[in-house]
Amino acid sequence: MATATQAVQLTDSVSRYIAKSRQMLINGKWVDAASGKTFPTYNPATGEVLANVAEGDKEDINRAVAAARAAFDTGPWSRITPSERGKLIWKLADLIENHAEEFAQLESLDNGKPVTIARIADIPGTIDMFRYMAGWATKLEGNTIPISAHGAKFLAYTLREPVGVVGQIIPWNFPLMMASWKLGPALATGCCVILKPAEQTPLSALLLGELIQEAGIPDGVVNIVPGYGETAGAALAAHPNVDKIAFTGSTEVGKLIVHAATGNLKKVSLELGGKSPNVVFQDADIDATIPGAAMAIFFNHGQCCCAGSRLYVEAKEFDKVVDGVSQLASKIRVGPGMEPTTDMGPLVSEEQMNKVCSYLESGYAEGAKATVGGSRQGDKGYFVKPTVLVNTNEKMKVVREEIFGPVVTAIPFKDVDDLVVKANATEYGLAAGVWTRDIGKAHRIASQLRAGTVWINCYNVFDPAMPFGGYKQSGWGREMGHEVLNLYTEVKSVCTPIS
Ligand code: NAI
Ligand code: MG
Repeated sequence: MATATQAVQLTDSVSRYIAKSRQMLINGKWVDAASGKTFPTYNPATGEVLANVAEGDKEDINRAVAAARAAFDTGPWSRITPSERGKLIWKLADLIENHAEEFAQLESLDNGKPVTIARIADIPGTIDMFRYMAGWATKLEGNTIPISAHGAKFLAYTLREPVGVVGQIIPWNFPLMMASWKLGPALATGCCVILKPAEQTPLSALLLGELIQEAGIPDGVVNIVPGYGETAGAALAAHPNVDKIAFTGSTEVGKLIVHAATGNLKKVSLELGGKSPNVVFQDADIDATIPGAAMAIFFNHGQCCCAGSRLYVEAKEFDKVVDGVSQLASKIRVGPGMEPTTDMGPLVSEEQMNKVCSYLESGYAEGAKATVGGSRQGDKGYFVKPTVLVNTNEKMKVVREEIFGPVVTAIPFKDVDDLVVKANATEYGLAAGVWTRDIGKAHRIASQLRAGTVWINCYNVFDPAMPFGGYKQSGWGREMGHEVLNLYTEVKSVCTPIS
């Protein structure tokens, strides 16, 4: 553990932020839960309580939906120009940039990730997302359509209108960035929002709420209700006055959301789990591939829906790649996220650590062997050592199920046909990686893999302009890029005879 170094100094505002209990944002006011209840959020590096947060429940969701409904139907948001909307979103991005260090520290404290990583990944990614979406506010065009009905002359055109009041339920792995993936397109298209952050990591979304107010986004347009999934989340998903639910999280809860949405048939978009194959051919640049394959699984401690968690290596290079990834794993400095020398922090919670460790046990019971790591690290905080499992096959739980921790299974393959079958033998279809110098093969495989994103000779490359989402049980719809605008708009056809 990286214990000898000095932890990063908390900014004054972060110290103040975590010293008092946090309220929720409803209709532009910071309020307690209707029940008066609060819940703790923990620092996973120590297991200690970090802050207490108002615990939203059905009643609070009702209040927030009423506020969003009013802001959308009759409030200032329905009258604001696209240009003004774009300016407000851009202003929010500027404010986040001004508070970047606070956000990075809050993410590290609440989620466990290294503050050094939050500074270069989560916070810039969030700012970019809002800026990209700010530009779309003025570009939501319909079409004019030449129609032939009744043999007469018509003027027919489409309008692209906001879907309305949107409930957004987000996970804990990239707390602030997930809020931006959801809020960015909702605001750009003119929707109003009830955002429910994950119970493990509510703090950065609440600070974001303060900046949303400071930016001048009108009251009720964004409401932020922290609370548990089974209560606040379920109430939001089932709410009859919500027009759409956008969810990121487990496939299991994604299915619950679909059921909950049936009452009023609200629109649903889902960004769910994965078990992504990362494929290395023997003709790849192996020296570049090894760090790429390690980063594909160990980035964010493996707590990525798109983690390259199934490493397939062409037989001839299998030992070399596994040795290389294992050596890199052994050098990763695991420690508290607030220490500047830490490469990998704790997992987000005791529950997540126990889940990952029980997967390791199941792997060993089925014959897998760890070449590196393989267990919890220390007994304080929720640290798990970066792990590479060999002697694995597609029948094992560790190869089939999403572990969501720093654990990769490595499996050799014989040839391309063998590989494609193995890579696609999963109920998920979120992402995949292909490493080869043969560009024809790379693109052929890219088209054969049933996954929403295929990275060739790279991994974990994200951009607000590039759509992201899943085939199969990895979800419905695409976030980011102009694709996401379809999830937040309705298309209206208008036609009139002109002859
Ligand atoms: P989860 O799916 O339970 O939580 C995600 C969000 O959904 C949270 O905001 C939670 O409060 C909410 N939620 C939970 N139950 C709900 C319900 N019945 N109705 C409405 N909202 C609900 O995920 P959890 O339990 O935190 O993690 C379990 C596993 O899920 C992880 O080990 C990982 O495999 C997967 N996961 C995948 C993520 C992804 O990015 N695709 C993110 C987080 C977890
Ligand atoms: Mg926490």
